[in-house]
Amino acid sequence: MPTNSSVYIRGLGVYTPEKRLSNDDLSKIVDTSDEWIRTRTGIVSRCIAADGEAASDLGLKAAERAIADAGISKDEIDMVIVSTVTPDYIFPSTACVLQNKLGISGCPAFDILTACSGFIYLLELGSRFLRGNAYRNILLVSTEKLSSVVNWKDRNTCVLFGDAAGAVVLSKTDEADVGVLGTVLGADGAYGDLLKQPAGGSALPASYETVANGQHFIQMQGSSVFKHAVRTMSECSLELLKKCNLTAEDIRWVIPHQANMRIVDAVARQLEIPMEKFCVNLQNYGNTSSASIPNCMAEMREQGRFKPGDLLLLTAFGGGFTWGASLIRWK
Ligand code: ACO
Repeated sequence: MPTNSSVYIRGLGVYTPEKRLSNDDLSKIVDTSDEWIRTRTGIVSRCIAADGEAASDLGLKAAERAIADAGISKDEIDMVIVSTVTPDYIFPSTACVLQNKLGISGCPAFDILTACSGFIYLLELGSRFLRGNAYRNILLVSTEKLSSVVNWKDRNTCVLFGDAAGAVVLSKTDEADVGVLGTVLGADGAYGDLLKQPAGGSALPASYETVANGQHFIQMQGSSVFKHAVRTMSECSLELLKKCNLTAEDIRWVIPHQANMRIVDAVARQLEIPMEKFCVNLQNYGNTSSASIPNCMAEMREQGRFKPGDLLLLTAFGGGFTWGASLIRWK
């Protein structure tokens, strides 16, 4: 894979809603316990958006912070791409809604739907557009209000998810060997039924029956998802390292999709990278789908963990199934 070092994360922002839901709070809603959730997932609490707060509202706050962090004006944004499984509407896209709330217009704006791998897909899309030389600053937003599609009566799923948004401004630089060094993406639609929200689209439009049957909520076959997540996150990471002529030893930090501590542990073993190099904050947020990687990145940067020149490996897996990995030389 040719190394193109001219695209980098110029600004990074995150927003997590104020309201927190602890494992103990959940044990009052469904038959579960703090002990079960901690030992099976590593999650301790998660953030829940307010009733009137839509995915675009969470994304807007993250986007404003990313733009401020980039040190540019919002009018310098040349494109808005949003990743979400919980769009405000089927259409207009959340990217268009967010663009309007941001107070800009004219630049292209669109959504992608690749579930938990969304941020990696965004990085690749943004990088490709920037390398085409027609754009200078692209706003990438991963925003998820999973609380709006979680069945709060289903203990198998409701303990896993939370709400959050993360955003980056991706820009060009003349500096060599920094920024996004490479990305691999993958998908296999044969596994779509293992993790889905069945109703609300054209296959199963909303009806009294779909609502009564709970088909607008996330449905998941947890143990199968677990195995595929570990395998694909590990395999695509190794594939990417090979393509970039790098090895696991070159990596300073791994930022995995924050789904479950046991998935992270298993990926660490497969990659033979020590857990000390893994960035994890899922204990405080649960699985926030595509927002989980930028949320974790922002927190780790805040803690001063990333130094210029550090090699970061991002890897994710999600419904579809989809997966992907990115290597970033921190600038
Ligand atoms: N509290 C108490 N008991 C529970 C709960 C709960 N919240 N949820 C399930 N159980 C019970 C089950 O009913 C079952 O009981 P039974 O044996 O009497 O039937 C028992 O616990 C074991 O259930 P399993 O599903 O086998 O539990 P497992 O050890 O596989 O853990 C989990 C479940 C945590 C969901 C696991 O499969 C997992 O992590 N899967 C990965 C999926 C994931 O993280 N998905 C997120 C979306 S995809 C993504 O982001 C990559």
